[in-house]
Amino acid sequence: MSEFFHAPSLISRKREGEEIDGGEIRRLIERFTSGNVTDAQMSAFAMAVYFRGMTAAETAALTYAMLESGERFVFPGEHPPIVDKHSTGGIGDKVSLILAPLVACCDCWIPMVSGRGLGITGGTLDKLESIPGFRVNLTIEQAMRQLEQIQVVMMGQTEQFCPADKKLYALRDVTGTVPSIPLITASIMSKKLAESLDRLVLDVKYGSGAFMKTREQAIVLADAMVAVGVEMGVEVSTELNSMQEPLGHAVGNVLEVIESIKIMQGGGPKDLLALVLSQAEKITKISQNQLLAKIQSGQVLEKFETIVLRQGGDPRKLFSLADQHRAAVIREVRSESPGTVTAFDAGIVGQSALELGAGRSRASDPVDFAVGFDRLIKKGVCIERGDLIARIHAQSESAADRAEQQLRQALVLG
Ligand code: URA
Repeated sequence: MSEFFHAPSLISRKREGEEIDGGEIRRLIERFTSGNVTDAQMSAFAMAVYFRGMTAAETAALTYAMLESGERFVFPGEHPPIVDKHSTGGIGDKVSLILAPLVACCDCWIPMVSGRGLGITGGTLDKLESIPGFRVNLTIEQAMRQLEQIQVVMMGQTEQFCPADKKLYALRDVTGTVPSIPLITASIMSKKLAESLDRLVLDVKYGSGAFMKTREQAIVLADAMVAVGVEMGVEVSTELNSMQEPLGHAVGNVLEVIESIKIMQGGGPKDLLALVLSQAEKITKISQNQLLAKIQSGQVLEKFETIVLRQGGDPRKLFSLADQHRAAVIREVRSESPGTVTAFDAGIVGQSALELGAGRSRASDPVDFAVGFDRLIKKGVCIERGDLIARIHAQSESAADRAEQQLRQALVLG
């Protein structure tokens, strides 16, 4: 006889703050994955969790239920260290695009499963898809073959791999239910545990452009994720990184790929490079100097080109991405007064990029790869009246007008 399950009652109980039993959470996720719990019901459940939170036992049950919604990577007995990183989400955070090929040059395997844009933050999958032809929907068999051959794969959740997160992630993005510690923990850790990792580094962001607004909240989130990872035998390290200003100088899908390529060519912004090196060091156990030498030798860019080729793209097009995704309006924004940049609010910049079309307001929305910002000025820089503070890439003059207003509001001069 099948067990009685009534989604509306379970949602109401969570809404009232009741602790939900692990078995019920598993049945909820099973039924959601198979389509027997509707998107509306799951969104309501997510909102109840957002307001009521979850106990450690509920969070663990949700993570395992989401992990078990699909298959896991199974590696041969003898294999190099299996490693990965994941960020809790930020503005201009393109670390994964550089770190994955870098780590693959270090005798490790990196089966990187990422997500799309979430809330005001960008997503690795959307950025990768701005490379014409790039496919992120791989089967586990295809991913395994690629790992064996080139030590790295960059893919998304699929019907086969973390299907519960694939569905819930898309719902949370458009229902205001992202900034919840248990939901973020289950989303990230279900993907990372399904990768059967030996080592994981988590980049936990805090500040206006992150889901955790304070360092204290970020510590709670980090602890929740570490607890789940350690229980499953994964060596987990964490970094707490401020997301008060955008990372690097670019925000927006193709603009971030272009900036990542600059790093792989040996240039690019220092704050971005620093995060890539410190996170790669934690999982490869190779010194930052040696990692930097690998980037400077050109082998990391070569590995990235190999990934692009293997996953359906044309590496020759990587160097003309700006022409392939050119926004209708590219506007320079110049400072109206002199001063030193004391803040460039990442939350406002992220919201503005979303409104330009870099993110979604419905799960089915496409993203606009071309829009966003580049040449964003950094904190601490001294400027004169008339100096460039950013370039806006927009599809209309009116969209550029609104973005310009938002940028001016985000920038604080001292
Ligand atoms: N990254 C994820 O994969 N999930 C979240 O909920 C937040 C960041």
